[in-house]
Amino acid sequence: MSAAPLASAVTPLAEARGLEVAFRRRGSTVQALDGVDLEWRQNEVLGVVGESGCGKTTLARTLLGLEQPTGGELRFEGATLDRSGVRTLRRRVQMVFQDPYQSLNPRMRVSELVQEPLRMQRMGRAERVLRAATALEDAGLGPAERFWGRYPHELSGGQRQRVAIASALAPEPAGLVCDEPVSALDVSVRAQVLHLLLGLRRTRGLALLLITHDIGLAWALCDRVAVMYLGRVIEIGQASDVLERPQHPYTQALIAVAPSTRPRAPGQAAVLEGEVPDASRLPSGCRFHPRCPRARERCADEDVALRPSGAAGQTAACWYPGFEPRSGLAGERRPADEGPERRRGPFVLHAEL
Ligand SMILES: Nc1ncnc2c1ncn2[C@@H]1O[C@H](COP(=O)(O)OP(=O)(O)O)[C@@H](O)[C@H]1O
Ligand code: SF4
Ligand SMILES: [Mg+2]
Repeated sequence: MSAAPLASAVTPLAEARGLEVAFRRRGSTVQALDGVDLEWRQNEVLGVVGESGCGKTTLARTLLGLEQPTGGELRFEGATLDRSGVRTLRRRVQMVFQDPYQSLNPRMRVSELVQEPLRMQRMGRAERVLRAATALEDAGLGPAERFWGRYPHELSGGQRQRVAIASALAPEPAGLVCDEPVSALDVSVRAQVLHLLLGLRRTRGLALLLITHDIGLAWALCDRVAVMYLGRVIEIGQASDVLERPQHPYTQALIAVAPSTRPRAPGQAAVLEGEVPDASRLPSGCRFHPRCPRARERCADEDVALRPSGAAGQTAACWYPGFEPRSGLAGERRPADEGPERRRGPFVLHAEL
């Protein structure tokens, strides 16, 4: 199967072509990633959405150099990854985990937590301290001395996530992978943490990869959105195009079950129907065909790669793509001059931005 060209003028931060990651589990092979085509561009906020088990975390871990691809290609800043490339990747891309209660070592002080990644790089103490203090202040924990000696249990949930963000910032990465970065936080502090992440994109020129199950958040915050299904990206494009005029039946189904500010159309499904996908038993042809309301004979026989469909830059892996307004998925385009933090529209946001 050949991938569609993913052209962009500037070298992407990371680029996956036919990327595969397989795991062995109880005698069978789980194809967690099975031909991912994706560009994560410099300084962009790229959303990754999809049902549980579709491969989002595996993709994130592979982009961080924590999983070894078993097939395909992963390029980072234009270079194919070899051993030294993986070391660079581990410095240039950092992770913000979902749960700051679990991701921070409770026996380490804030100063140690933020310096830890720099210590691993064997950086000298003076530079480490300076970098850690700057990272804490950039993460909204200033003056740094106020937090320096504290342990995680002496901090609120929002402050802990800021410490996690500071330790991700300390190595001065080009990209931050954020796996559900606010879903474990109290609703009242979610917006602050999201504003912080978006602010860092401006001030530090960071690219963000935002993994979220919250379509409203992806719609409000992301420049582009990639929709994953059973180990592949099945639709990608500008967030407003993908989420307001989705071309792939799966994206349409995902949006149809997302909390919406509009009442559901009569007969519109409230849950995604069909068998829960299993990455150890991939269907033939188009992997969505057993659940697809639009499936025809060809769909069960012939696999389909991402192909241009819908707006400019929008691609969908479907033989019969197209937006169906009657599926109750229509949205409103936001005004072009409206900043990402102030977007409003067809989805409920789980944080007041
Ligand atoms: N270390 C592992 N060993 C075996 N299977 C795994 C492992 N990590 C993930 N998987 C499987 O790979 C698939 C994708 O998982 P994951 O990337 O965690 O999806 P998501 O983050 O979208 O929920 C799932 O079927 C999951 O069970
Ligand atoms: S290729 Fe066929 S089965 Fe797959 S999403 Fe498109 S219409 Fe549905
Ligand atoms: Mg996950």
